Amino acid sequence: MGFGLPLRGDLAGVEPYGAVMPPAAVRLNVNENPYAPPPQVRRELSDAVAHLAGELNRYPDQEFLALRGALAEYLGREADAPWLTARHMWAGNGSNEVMLHVFQAFGGPGRTAMSLDPTYSMYPHYARDTHTGWVTAPRRSDFRLDLPAALETIDSAKPSIVLLASPNNPTGTALQLDEVEALAQATLRPDGQAQAVVVIDEAYAEFRRPGTPSAVPLVAQYPHLAVTRTMSKAFAWAGVRLGYMAASAELTDALRLVRLPYHLSALTQAAGLVALRQADALLAAVAQLRQARDQLVRDLQRRINPATGRNLDVAESDANFVLFGRFADRHAMWEQMAGLGVAVRETGPDGWLRVSVGTPQDNAAFLTALDQAMEAQQPPAMSSTPPPTGGS
Ligand SMILES: Cc1ncc(COP(=O)(O)O)c(C=O)c1O
Repeated sequence: MGFGLPLRGDLAGVEPYGAVMPPAAVRLNVNENPYAPPPQVRRELSDAVAHLAGELNRYPDQEFLALRGALAEYLGREADAPWLTARHMWAGNGSNEVMLHVFQAFGGPGRTAMSLDPTYSMYPHYARDTHTGWVTAPRRSDFRLDLPAALETIDSAKPSIVLLASPNNPTGTALQLDEVEALAQATLRPDGQAQAVVVIDEAYAEFRRPGTPSAVPLVAQYPHLAVTRTMSKAFAWAGVRLGYMAASAELTDALRLVRLPYHLSALTQAAGLVALRQADALLAAVAQLRQARDQLVRDLQRRINPATGRNLDVAESDANFVLFGRFADRHAMWEQMAGLGVAVRETGPDGWLRVSVGTPQDNAAFLTALDQAMEAQQPPAMSSTPPPTGGS
């Protein structure tokens, strides 16, 4: 900047959001699925795009009803909510866009959105970009919801949006259903009107451990509750940019007020339909990634940080990444590992790093680089001869 452009004051000096991408061979910093879509999915996508190419002079279906119907069918099966229909579904260019739609419709000047700290670092950007106030309630030290603190913040800040990630990024922590219900109840006024919309961001839900619930079934009971999902993670479709939401028809209709015309391209809609027809093939690696995640947690827990002589701290994870630490200088660790060809993410509370689950080779390379980086952080061994004193 510096050309005298009339940039908004609150954007002056701000860095654009995005992971630092070191030129590392092993990319474990943005929680992607490491497995490329299999050949039959690629073929079906090519055929769908070839078919569509002859109609690209026309705008796409702005209500994307075929895609919404297919999303309802998939999510109804995955999250045990067979009553979901197209009218309950919404979609955007990534779940990021869906959540921005929520802020556009339910936030704005004089209003406040609330989340828990730590959480996904994009959330305050939606608030900033829609001139919505932003508050957080602290999580417990094990990163679980601190319900009294959250209820207290709802009471004092009176948010119109409560946005919670489950499993949370960067900690991997999921919410229990009674916790989601407590928040849904706390945002209802005595007259039954909603003070806030409650959005549960389940971007990583397909990776959840057995017994960890999805909040989707609660949508039937709470018209002010929405659950967002994405094709960027488990579906291995990050390049497509397709995220979606399940909520009451009233809530999805509100988002239709703020979306741009034809915001989902015909190509995106077609790619989404292909992914849903091929869901089994695309999701085939999820079970393996879950196991690899659990193994990575154990491998990390076993490790001793030579700087402290203690085992590493490792957060329990229901996602496809693991938060671990704590390091006196996490940036130095990050840099050291990047230099060894492994990109992890410097995010979350001070001292912690986050690693995405990769292929077995990626995970092995990560552990080797981690061990070397921890060794390199050691101060040089003390010499047994005392250093000379005084001198020039
Ligand atoms: C918690 C969480 N929500 C949402 C997203 C956004 O995903 P997308 O916009 O690709 O759907 C991410 C991406 O990393 C995330 O970590």
